[in-house]
Amino acid sequence: MHPLFDIHGKKALVTGGTRGLGYKMAEGLMEAGCEVVIVGTSARVEQVAADFRARGFSCWGVQGNLGQREEVERVFARSLEKLGGDIDILLTSHGIQRRHMAEDFPLEEWDEVLSVNLTSVFILCQKAARIMLKKGYGKIITVASMNSFFGGQMIPAYAASKGGIAQLTRELSNDWAGRGINVNAIAPGYMATEMNAALLDPQNPRYATISERIPAGRWGTGDDLKGVAIFLASGASDYVSGAIIPVDGGYLGK
Ligand SMILES: NC(=O)c1ccc[n+]([C@@H]2O[C@H](COP(=O)([O-])OP(=O)(O)OC[C@H]3O[C@@H](n4cnc5c(N)ncnc54)[C@H](O)[C@@H]3O)[C@@H](O)[C@H]2O)c1
Repeated sequence: MHPLFDIHGKKALVTGGTRGLGYKMAEGLMEAGCEVVIVGTSARVEQVAADFRARGFSCWGVQGNLGQREEVERVFARSLEKLGGDIDILLTSHGIQRRHMAEDFPLEEWDEVLSVNLTSVFILCQKAARIMLKKGYGKIITVASMNSFFGGQMIPAYAASKGGIAQLTRELSNDWAGRGINVNAIAPGYMATEMNAALLDPQNPRYATISERIPAGRWGTGDDLKGVAIFLASGASDYVSGAIIPVDGGYLGK
């Protein structure tokens, strides 16, 4: 491994690490040598962590609902305990999606999406940074979206949360980049995960429209995000901060 990408001995917290994109990015960080705590909503998180340990990785699971403020505090404290009181890398890959036309969008779902996708990310970043700032070192990686760049359809809360993630990432970078913390966002394109089950249905006319616009000729997978996650978690990205990096098979350029 090139030393620039070596993260052996580093400690990471990866939310959403039980499945989808977060699972693959957590796996990538472990493959690059990192110890990882994964966070997920269901008790399955323990089994996923145990399966990683069975493969020889250092991985611990913490269950919690990041949509509830007290839970975010508890999850962070518990994760820190598992990591021996230190954290070098925070990767926030949890998120939810709710679909309704804007005029019918239920306000309870608006609150839920904003709490899970945006407010919890800020709290986790703030808590991680308090530790990172003391040692003058840290890598914070948020997960934005194509909806950080354009509005999408039937997803007002999700689009607002992901626009917010892009701005939050830039703001946190302005506050912390001069003090040793790189703050960047990965903006995945259209990825084949459970979150996109509705769009991936070939009966849905948007499936063809989206697919045709992807120059790479296919939807993305979690494996496509491993490289950028390792880059942003490692010394290779020491002079990269405040960036929103699309990993979209060329979608935005078209
Ligand atoms: N799939 C895509 O095309 C796509 C595109 C752009 C951005 N993203 C973003 O990538 C991230 C991961 O998406 P995915 O496709 O892997 O989704 P997914 O639905 O497969 O996984 C979501 C993860 O978030 C966790 N999660 C959800 N609600 C939570 C809560 N209240 N508390 C704690 N954890 C919670 C789940 O346990 C799960 O591990 C999300 O932030 C999503 O918005 C996805």
